[in-house]
Amino acid sequence: MNANRETILAHLGNSTTPVSGHALAEKMGLSRTGIWKHIQALRKQGIDIESHAGRGYQLKSDVLNTSMFTGRLKTQRIGSHVMVLDETDSTNREVMRQAESGADEGLVIIADFQTQGRGRLGRSWHTAGHDSLAISILLRPNISPEQVPQLSLLTAVALQQALAAHAPETRIKWPNDLLFHGAKIAGILTEMRAEPGQVHAVVLGIGLNVQKPANGWPKEITQKVTDLCSSSGKYVSRLTIASEIIQAIDDCYDIYIKRGFAPIRKLWWDAHAASGQLVRAHHGNGRDGGYVEGIAEALDEDGALLLRVGDKLQRFIAGDLELIDNGSMNHASTDHASMDQPA
Ligand code: BTN
Repeated sequence: MNANRETILAHLGNSTTPVSGHALAEKMGLSRTGIWKHIQALRKQGIDIESHAGRGYQLKSDVLNTSMFTGRLKTQRIGSHVMVLDETDSTNREVMRQAESGADEGLVIIADFQTQGRGRLGRSWHTAGHDSLAISILLRPNISPEQVPQLSLLTAVALQQALAAHAPETRIKWPNDLLFHGAKIAGILTEMRAEPGQVHAVVLGIGLNVQKPANGWPKEITQKVTDLCSSSGKYVSRLTIASEIIQAIDDCYDIYIKRGFAPIRKLWWDAHAASGQLVRAHHGNGRDGGYVEGIAEALDEDGALLLRVGDKLQRFIAGDLELIDNGSMNHASTDHASMDQPA
């Protein structure tokens, strides 16, 4: 996009009130007519900008671009470089490609559309333009490959905190789904490049439903799903929630680096929908294999869920969790997989 138009969008996107043409013209060293021409061009691109007589321009579309993040984040490690793309195959793949070309820790890539968005367990993930957020973050932690699942759990904690600030009843479902009243609102896919004993790159990928699409959810999605704006009962822009998520992950990552996994594990357990409750844990790849029912008793150091089955503790490293006999959380027994379409 033309750099001046991107700057105009950044100014409008960072303001909750109309921004006057005069102020924009002064800040950018352009004439008011020049600003007006750029506004017209942006409207032609389908971006909804309202004119308020005597007050200025206000952005109505939920546009995100790279310039909007400039100077906005107060993070220590994450977000030093934020890129917003119109479209990519998968933000996780894009970040991994950049990692392989030497990108630094903290790179964040966000895309409006993903042509090959990926979910957990080999599933695909639908990303619906301005209604959703697809965001991937590069970390280069000094940990062993076996510890990387801890970073997925850390991401779930951060995401729960960021979402719960708007929709307080948002909970985690093991290992790292985010649910609101049992309906999936966000998911996390963590990928890594490593060799034995050494991690080269970790990519934290987050898919969030921000608004219900105007035409409803795609019919491929059969699982109970929801979105942040419906859950919170108010409009939350992608810029706001993306910034808050990045900030929350940065804060949790700082705790992890300084104090290890133990405090994150406690935060995770407190935010988990089924801590101490009866669950059904499906082995391996979704709901086709067997399952075990038991009480979710703890999360261990490796991020495995410990289930009390009779008088024994069983350890679940990977799989899918169904919440059962759980009052209002009953809805969560819908298939986690069905948010995702067949790959
Ligand atoms: C899940 O299955 O619940 C995880 C979904 C993760 C989707 C996100 S969207 C951003 C990033 N890029 C991808 O291709 N996947 C993750």
